[in-house]
Amino acid sequence: MKFKSMKTFLSLLILLLANAVTGQAVVQIGNVEATSVDQNVIHLKTQNAFIEIIPYSQNIIRFRIDKKPLKKDFSYAVTAKPESIKANISQEGNEIKISTASINCVIQKKPFSVAIYTKDGKVINEDAKGFTTSWADNSVTTYKKMQNGERFIGLGEKSGNLDRKGNAYTNWNTDAAGYDNGTDPLYSDVPFYIGLHDHLSYGIFLDNTYQTDFNFGASNDIFSSFGARGGEMNYYFIYDNSVAKIITDYTWLTGRMKMPPLWSLGYQQSKWSYFPDTMVLHIAHELRNKHFPADGMVLDIDYMDKYQLFTWNKKYFPHPHVMTDSLRKLGFRTTVIVDPGIKIAPEAPAYQKGLKEDVYLKYPNGQYYSGQVWPGWCNFVDFTSEKGRAYWRSQMSFFAKNGVSGVWNDMNEISTWGQRTPNNILYNYDGRGANNLEGHNVYALNMVRSSYEGMKQITGVRPFILSRSGYAGLQRYSAIWTGDNQPNDDHMLLGVRLLNSMGLSGLAFTGMDISGFLGNATPELFTRWMQIGAFMPYCRNHKITGAKPAEPWCYGEDALNNSRSYIELRYHLLPYLYSTFYEATQDGLPVNRSLAIDYTFQDDVYKEDFQNQYLFGNNIMVAPFKSTDTKGKIYLPANDNWYDFYTDRKFDGGQVIDTKVTLDRLPLYIKAGSIIPMQSLIQSTADMPTDTLVLQVYNDNKANSFAYYEDDGESYRYQKGDDYKRIIKFNPRDRKIEFSKVEGAFVSKFKYVKILLHGFNDTYSEQKQQYFSALPYKISAENKNGYIAVKVIVAANAENEFSIKY
Ligand code: NOJ
Repeated sequence: MKFKSMKTFLSLLILLLANAVTGQAVVQIGNVEATSVDQNVIHLKTQNAFIEIIPYSQNIIRFRIDKKPLKKDFSYAVTAKPESIKANISQEGNEIKISTASINCVIQKKPFSVAIYTKDGKVINEDAKGFTTSWADNSVTTYKKMQNGERFIGLGEKSGNLDRKGNAYTNWNTDAAGYDNGTDPLYSDVPFYIGLHDHLSYGIFLDNTYQTDFNFGASNDIFSSFGARGGEMNYYFIYDNSVAKIITDYTWLTGRMKMPPLWSLGYQQSKWSYFPDTMVLHIAHELRNKHFPADGMVLDIDYMDKYQLFTWNKKYFPHPHVMTDSLRKLGFRTTVIVDPGIKIAPEAPAYQKGLKEDVYLKYPNGQYYSGQVWPGWCNFVDFTSEKGRAYWRSQMSFFAKNGVSGVWNDMNEISTWGQRTPNNILYNYDGRGANNLEGHNVYALNMVRSSYEGMKQITGVRPFILSRSGYAGLQRYSAIWTGDNQPNDDHMLLGVRLLNSMGLSGLAFTGMDISGFLGNATPELFTRWMQIGAFMPYCRNHKITGAKPAEPWCYGEDALNNSRSYIELRYHLLPYLYSTFYEATQDGLPVNRSLAIDYTFQDDVYKEDFQNQYLFGNNIMVAPFKSTDTKGKIYLPANDNWYDFYTDRKFDGGQVIDTKVTLDRLPLYIKAGSIIPMQSLIQSTADMPTDTLVLQVYNDNKANSFAYYEDDGESYRYQKGDDYKRIIKFNPRDRKIEFSKVEGAFVSKFKYVKILLHGFNDTYSEQKQQYFSALPYKISAENKNGYIAVKVIVAANAENEFSIKY
């Protein structure tokens, strides 16, 4: 072969070399070469990959793809097993079709690519043409075609906007102290997001514990992508007909929270750090003296002896049990902080025990991994090993025997001074062996799992566990808070979005440090943050050491009075909140619900002005504003109507309203048709409310119902049927409020039900009481603040179904 010139020869050579390099630099998945079906699992071999496709349920299909033959299945996140469903699997020419009752999945063989359709043929999600799945070195990425108008929501604790389109995110658990709206990654990761387009919604959960990367059209307009820096491409595709159902499907896969102890839903007072014990008791007494309802005192690192785990500072906390007992008598539970690093102190029993039981993370040469945290150089328990978890579980007796009820797991990303855990740390990874690249992201999940299981085993009652870091599935064990936030308005609103996003990602029990951890708040900021805090699942006021005292009375009378009235409202709402938590245990729906859950395809939901609005439970919409705002706009979602909580003025949904914003009122709107159970004011959940449950019913022409739930608030007896469940229906067509038969053996703490009717245009004069046909129940009417309140006193222990006509 002759070349016309040296130039031609050189250009050909360059081309050949370039191809060779491209070929190596990015490995494409290639064509399908072999197919087999074993039970419901489809096995494929392509030019460069091994694939398994597993229908998990009618709505969920799992894809496992690797360059190497697939390893034995293992996951820290997924607890569900594939349902035995009949998927229809067929092959024709170039295509393999997998049909379940709700989706059709079509696999193209040349090259391998995936497309998923609704039963009536609409594309839900499809691999981007020419990209599909490929590897760049050990990183694997799957590319999906960006659909017209597609939005992306969720992905756990991620800063930025509700709609994540145009952005990319990394999952690598990081101590991100002082983060802001552009910081990524943050403390925890949940590699699960929900895609929305053309009135269709789907979820993708990438179950891979290496660093994962998600791109929702950042720097490109062709695809969205998700990938991992190592391990398999292992993703679950979820399709369902609403965002709520997708969250339910996702939490079917990764598990749901258990009922929390009731006290953990009360107000929690914290500051780094309360010491000595007399100060802790003093603050608890002050809360009682000032009639500020509260349930928890939280101890930060200064309860320990020089920050050494499993010690008490003998000078400041000489008799921890006496202190926790005194707190308990005052109606407070104690939560203490723990860090994963155990000080290298050869004389310390807890450290020695760890050595003896061989529980610390090591380097490949057998040397222990040491990093510096509060107590100085530490070794770190390997929570991915059963012996590490067993060690930790037994150590929980140190807290349990001292009357501690809550364990706050901090610094568990792992955070060390320097913030770089070396790649060559070895994790047991439950016998599979992993380096830091694979083990890091599941460290916290396994830590809180051990804390939860240990406390549960030892005390026999529901522990409260709080975590800073985590991975998908964390909800099974722990609540989570958003770490070291800043004391400013933007940060408060960013926190609201973080909570809403975590709620979209299976995490129902979430909170942020009220008033901003990293410094002093103004009285105005404190006030607004406490108001919003009253509508957060975990309601804790926490502040850094060195900042000014930050208890509710430290910001002046107005701030004290105003924040007290919102915390009081939270305590009134506990029957509603507790029932909402019950819902989270049943269907995985969060307590703080982004409007994207129920009003998914209403564009206004995603606008900057409205993206922070959320529903607290199913019925109360919170419109958070800055403490400095004097006016603003609120979006009242379409398909529902809304009542101003303060005035009972009714608004049609589907409009934006201008509103005056004042510091004394957090804008709240009640969804028309709602039934909201409330109780009398108590100062602590240790106190009994009066014997009357109040149902606030908001009129509408649409029927609605509320799943009311109660149990003893503390034990696990509810899991054996010792609970109280009753569906309460608002039935405007028949003008009835209907109570289902009670399910469960628990005897309600309420003897009577009182119904307050809002927005019923008829005047409920004394004469009209005849409409209440539920006699012989006692009935009376009162006129309150312009709305009609009709009291129907019904014996709540009337266990059979009954209805009240209005
Ligand atoms: C970091 C945590 O985020 C913070 O809440 C805590 O107060 C400090 N560690 C001290 O323990």
